[in-house]
Amino acid sequence: MAEAKGRKTAARGRVELRKGPPAREPQVPLPPYFNIAPDAALAELEAPLTTAGFAEIARSCAQGREDLAARGLDEEGRKSLRLFSTWEITRYLIPVATAHFRRVLKANPDLPQGISETEGGAKWFALDEVLRLRAHFAAEGSKAKEYRPYRPAGLPAKMVAVANFKGGVGKTSTAAHLAMSAALDGYRVLVIDLDSQGSMTSIFGGRVADEWGTVFPLLARHYAGHLQSENRLRVARGDPPVPLDETLNEALKIRAGDLIAKTHWPNIDLIGAQLNLYWAEFQIPVWRMQGRSWKLWDALTDVLAEDGVLDGYDVIFIDTPPALGYLTINGLAAADILLVPLGASFLEFDSTGRFFDMLHSTFRSIEEGENIAARALGREELSFEWDAVRAVLTRYDGAQQGEMAALMQAYMGRTMAPERQDFTALIGQAGEQVNGIYEADYRDFNRDTYIRGRETFDATYAAFKRLLVGIWRREELAAAEAAE
Ligand SMILES: Nc1ncnc2c1ncn2[C@@H]1O[C@H](COP(=O)(O)OP(=O)(O)OP(=O)(O)O)[C@@H](O)[C@H]1O
Ligand SMILES: [Mg+2]
Repeated sequence: MAEAKGRKTAARGRVELRKGPPAREPQVPLPPYFNIAPDAALAELEAPLTTAGFAEIARSCAQGREDLAARGLDEEGRKSLRLFSTWEITRYLIPVATAHFRRVLKANPDLPQGISETEGGAKWFALDEVLRLRAHFAAEGSKAKEYRPYRPAGLPAKMVAVANFKGGVGKTSTAAHLAMSAALDGYRVLVIDLDSQGSMTSIFGGRVADEWGTVFPLLARHYAGHLQSENRLRVARGDPPVPLDETLNEALKIRAGDLIAKTHWPNIDLIGAQLNLYWAEFQIPVWRMQGRSWKLWDALTDVLAEDGVLDGYDVIFIDTPPALGYLTINGLAAADILLVPLGASFLEFDSTGRFFDMLHSTFRSIEEGENIAARALGREELSFEWDAVRAVLTRYDGAQQGEMAALMQAYMGRTMAPERQDFTALIGQAGEQVNGIYEADYRDFNRDTYIRGRETFDATYAAFKRLLVGIWRREELAAAEAAE
């Protein structure tokens, strides 16, 4: 009170000094939510929306999406991958001195020679040409350098699921960047999109008409196979078999190879997703009710193994939706390596903690359900196992989040990879055709920005590759020991 009075006095003092008309308080603009005139608000308002209104909004979005997606496509309307320059190749992909690289090309006219935009300008190569060059260097070059990434013979591809039920934490970006860096490194990569939002599918230019172009028929086939073997037992007991419906009969004809699509990356293939895949979340529980002993969690692994997919690739990345539904459970159960992206914020840390809690209760209840029967029949008990589980810090801003990240690191210990994937403007801004740092042409950016952005994703990949190589080595040694 006294203070307010004092201020008034001071103001009066100013008035006297100026000797003009009484001064008004300086005009502070009102917050935008004050003084909204009801009639003006009404005048701006459109009619109430009906269900059909959603269809209209969806149509507009679809048109805009088509427009955006059509920009920069090649003549056949497909995505195309940019070329790679000598600078980039010798710095990131085949690390040799540029002069040596040029000498080797000159001495081997059969090797791809690259194209240049100007007479005598920098030479650019397509990725499949880079892969051929790498094979040449691997065969002829220094044995001390690893031109081709480590992959022990005879072991199946490693499956990697990227999951967190929190949305927008960087699952798809992490999975897509890892897939691309593994491909640049020379691995044969398969990407499986389990998210009906289909972001991963659109990053890799996939075109999926309906659920029959997704993993759905593979899961259906696994269930149909289960039903058939149950039916054989029923018939042997003298009971009538349960008929397979049209969906299940159709699914029995489909092989993973029918669904695997090529992408604009020569060594990345895709099983895409589409909105209808969400239907699986309703269908799977119906099958589970009908066939109580169906091992849903084995479906993806069994089918991929049966169809030879695990031998045809080195690494399989599975992108999952922001939910712990049946599809995610399937992806998680199939995975050898589980990556859980999260940002350095309280809400993401909190939510991720609860995600691990839900993983525990979900898989524990599956194990318990199975093992009651297994114990009764004297069969081996079910116990899920993952080669490695890592939380990956994404969209990290060192200036703001250092303390939070350190705290999370301290609590999560080795579960959290120490490498932090920085927030970078190079992601997300590039638009529909170019997704992330590996597809961007470095000439579009300041070179230092590019190098920094690329380094952060290279570091994420390096950390992932250490896990992969270590796990494969562990298995290779175990296999050798078992063979002795
Ligand atoms: N390192 C990064 N730097 C800057 N932006 C990023 C980075 N990683 C991801 N983003 C952006 O954050 C947003 C969410 O990323 P993303 O789509 O990968 O998350 P998600 O977990 O897959 O989301 P959803 O739960 O919807 O599937 C995107 O707009 C993406 O471009
Ligand atoms: Mg996603």
